Parts: sequence; structure tokens; C-alpha cells
Amino acid sequence: MKDLKAVAYEADDVLDDFEYEALRREVKIGDSTTRKVLGYFTPHSPLLFRVTMSRKLGDVLKKINDLVEEMNKFGLMEHTEAPQLPYRLTHSGLDESADIFGREHDKEVLVKLMLDQHDQQNLQVLPIVGMGGLGKTTLAKMVYNDPIVQKHFQLKMWHCVSENFEPISIVKSIIELATNRKCDLPDSIELLRRRLEGVIDRKRFLLVLDDVWNEDDNKWNEHLRPLLNSVGGPGSIIVITTRNRRVASIMETLQPYKPACLSEDESWELFSKRAFGRDVQEQEDLVTIGKCIVHKCKGLPLALKTMGGLMSSKHQVKEWEAIARSNIGDSVKGKDEILSILKLSYKHLPSEMKQCFTFCAIFCKDYEMEKDMLIQLWIANGFIQEEGTIELSQKGEFVFNELVWRSFLQDVKTILFRSLDYDFVVCKMHDLMHDLAKDVSSECATTEELIQQKAPSEDVWHVQISEGELKQISGSFKGELRSSNS
Ligand SMILES: Nc1ncnc2c1ncn2[C@@H]1O[C@H](COP(=O)(O)OP(=O)(O)OP(=O)(O)O)[C@@H](O)[C@H]1O
Ligand SMILES: [Mg+2]
Repeated sequence: MKDLKAVAYEADDVLDDFEYEALRREVKIGDSTTRKVLGYFTPHSPLLFRVTMSRKLGDVLKKINDLVEEMNKFGLMEHTEAPQLPYRLTHSGLDESADIFGREHDKEVLVKLMLDQHDQQNLQVLPIVGMGGLGKTTLAKMVYNDPIVQKHFQLKMWHCVSENFEPISIVKSIIELATNRKCDLPDSIELLRRRLEGVIDRKRFLLVLDDVWNEDDNKWNEHLRPLLNSVGGPGSIIVITTRNRRVASIMETLQPYKPACLSEDESWELFSKRAFGRDVQEQEDLVTIGKCIVHKCKGLPLALKTMGGLMSSKHQVKEWEAIARSNIGDSVKGKDEILSILKLSYKHLPSEMKQCFTFCAIFCKDYEMEKDMLIQLWIANGFIQEEGTIELSQKGEFVFNELVWRSFLQDVKTILFRSLDYDFVVCKMHDLMHDLAKDVSSECATTEELIQQKAPSEDVWHVQISEGELKQISGSFKGELRSSNS
């Protein structure tokens, strides 16, 4: 498959060269005889172009023939893809607003616990622990946005940690969150401490550190904790979310909170809202099969939401039965269990959406992607094909909405620039969806992965890169890059 993709990209590049040359000839100014004659001796000489291109074309055709021969040896049969979904241009997939089920009680318990710390002199740390996709971040958001919590704390800050638990970068981010301005101090703990004291002072603060993975207790106990402990008023709290019990134990001062999986009823509510939220009717036989599918999701919200999104594209009973028969969630455990469910949903995406989705792994985890830029990148890479009279950008919009509806993309929000009278839409990818995109394709990488050689450079076709980083990694590519986003 990898070879096939590589040769398809190569063929696409050859066609691009032809297109470029045709355009170049169209816009060439002047056509005097001297210019025509001289033209034969420049790098754009038609003669040279013909020779180079026929060689490139010959190479690509040979590679394709070799692959076809190889495929024939395996006796592969042609398979036509299931009919595509009709393009609903008035799709309302963006509205994933706060359809949260079964977490009211958890929220109340946590809010009370936090308020009860109001006269604690020492900084308290409250971990929310549980497996990926369980809803820790969602619960933390509910608590954070609760009006009582908003009023109780004088300063509220949310920082997504993920893999980067560097004390300096966390403190810088805290300063930025507290001041709403970029922190341009040099990386000196002393300078940062003084600025931190200035901005937080004795205010009672709430800091959420989302998605912590740090197992190095030195980083917390020797560096970050003393810094944060020396600022803020009584009752200040850090809430962390983590999948790892050991990570929590390094930081906790309060008992970790472990949200339960959703009950069968809550699970059904979440699943059916998605599955029957569009044009599939909630009929008896689908409900019976749907309950089997829900059972396999074991109360994990991300799995339920994704499966609901998938089933909303299946109208026939036999399609529902086939999915209920699949062995998702039967034998594997933990992260693999949920990944197998997400993978099944991915398998049922139309092929162009598959490409658009996996392309998003070009961005690092938790990156806020701008919708219009994403659609332009999909189009530029040829992932979105023309169809009838629908414009490519409209089709891109549909793909975007569909990926949101099926939970491959999430956290859609509109950012308004009042001063410019301009707004744009951004979204994120759940970290498990990012893992899935990486798992199914190695074509996209972040610069960091290339620098640390975590991604095999010969497989990488797309990378997001800044100008400085470009210098750092130039030379590490064996092949050609198709897209680099800076
Ligand atoms: N109670 C709920 N009702 C409906 N949807 C939910 C609920 N809890 C979580 N979700 C949805 O499930 C997905 C996963 O939730 P979330 O990101 O909070 O999980 P997590 O435990 O933080 O995962 P990770 O460990 O990967 O960070 C999100 O898309 C979220 O919107
Ligand atoms: Mg999370």
C-alpha cells in the first residue's frame, strides 16, 4: 500500500509539472523569433521539458506496471466503494454544543470539594483520573465553567499540558493566561518567579492542567510546585486530568477523582442522539441492534459518540447488523479497545474523507486548526475531487462538517476579531483520534517527530514547519515533500 501511495503521489507530481508548464507557456510574454530560439537553450526549453518529462512519465508507468503485476500475484479483486453520502450543503454538523450526559453529579461533587478548600493555606492539587476517552477533560471543563466556580476563584486558567511538562514553559503559559499577553521573558526561573508573583499576587486561583503525562517527580517537586506554592491566596487549586494513576500520585494533595463509565441508559442517550440525529429513523429493529452496539462501547463517551456518528450514515438494517457483529471491544483492553472502535468508524469513511482526516496529523496534538485553511490544504493536495456543479470549497465544507459529526474533529468554535470585524472557525482533534490518524498513516509528521527521528522520513509526505525549523531538518528527507505548512 505504501508503495502504491508513493507512486500515486509521484504520478500526481508529474501531472502537476505538465499543468504548470502549460500555464507558464500561456502567460509567457512576447514571442519574438530570437526569444523562441533562445528559449531552446534555457531550463524551460520545450525540448528539455519533453525529454525530462517523458523519462519521468516512463518511470512512473513502469512502477505502476510492476505494482499491478505484484498485485495480480495475490489474486486481489477490484472492490467498488460503498456509494458516497449525498452532499448535504446545509448540514448542521457543527452543532455539537454541550450534549453532555450523566456528569451532573460528578460535577457537583467536584465543585463542592473545591469550595471546601477555601481556607487551605497550601496549594491543593486535585487529579481527575481515568482511561482515554472517558470524559475527564469534559468533566474538568464543566467544573471550570460552573458559575459558582467562576465566582469563587479570582483567577481562572486552563493550560493543556500533553507531553510538554517543562516547568519553564508551563510558568510562561500561566503568566500569559493571567495577563492575556505574550510573555517574552528569557528562560530564567528567577525572572519568571518575580513576574508570576506580580501577576498572581495573593489572588485565589484555579489552574487546570489538562492531560498530564509527567512521571518525573523532580520536575514537579523541585521546580514547579515551589514556584506555584509561593503565589496565590488561600483555597487556590490545581486540577489535573491524567490517564495515569502514577502521574496523579506525584502531584496530588487531594484524593484523585475517578469518574465512572456512563450507565447503559446514559450511553444510549448519547449514542442515539447521534445515530438518529439526522435522517435515520429510530425504528424498533434498529433500536435493538443499536443497544448491542452501545453495549460494546462499555460506557466510553468517545466510543459512543463516534459509533453514533457512524451509524447515522447507515440506513439499512443489514448494515447495522454487520457492524453489531464486528468484534470491536470483545477481546482487547484499555487504549486498544477504544482504538479498535475508532478504527472501525474510520474504515467506514469515504476514501476522500479518510485522506482529509489523516492529513490532520500534520499538526501536533491539541493544535487549534483553522477550518478555512484546512479546507484549502485538502483542496491543494487533491484530496477533494470535483463533482458535478458543486464547488470544491463547498465540498470541503461538507467534508469538514461530516468529520465533526463523526467526532473525527471536535471542539469547533468561532473566534471573533472585533477590531478587524472578522471571524473564523477553529477546531481540534481528540488526542485518541490523533493517535488513530498516526496509526493508519505515516504520511504526516510534525517537525518535532522528524527532528527526534520518531517518524521514518522516507514515509513522510506532509509536514507542518516553521522557517527556523526548516533549516534544522533540511537534509533529513530522502524523498520529496508534498506539503509543508508554515
Ligand atoms: N458525558 C458525556 N456526554 C457526552 N459526550 C461526552 C461525555 N464525556 C465526554 N464526551 C465526549 O467524548 C469525547 C472524549 O471526552 P474527553 O476528551 O473529555 O475524554 P478524556 O477522558 O479527557 O480523554 P483523554 O484521556 O484522551 O484526554 C469528547 O469528544 C467529549 O465531547
Ligand atoms: Mg482529556
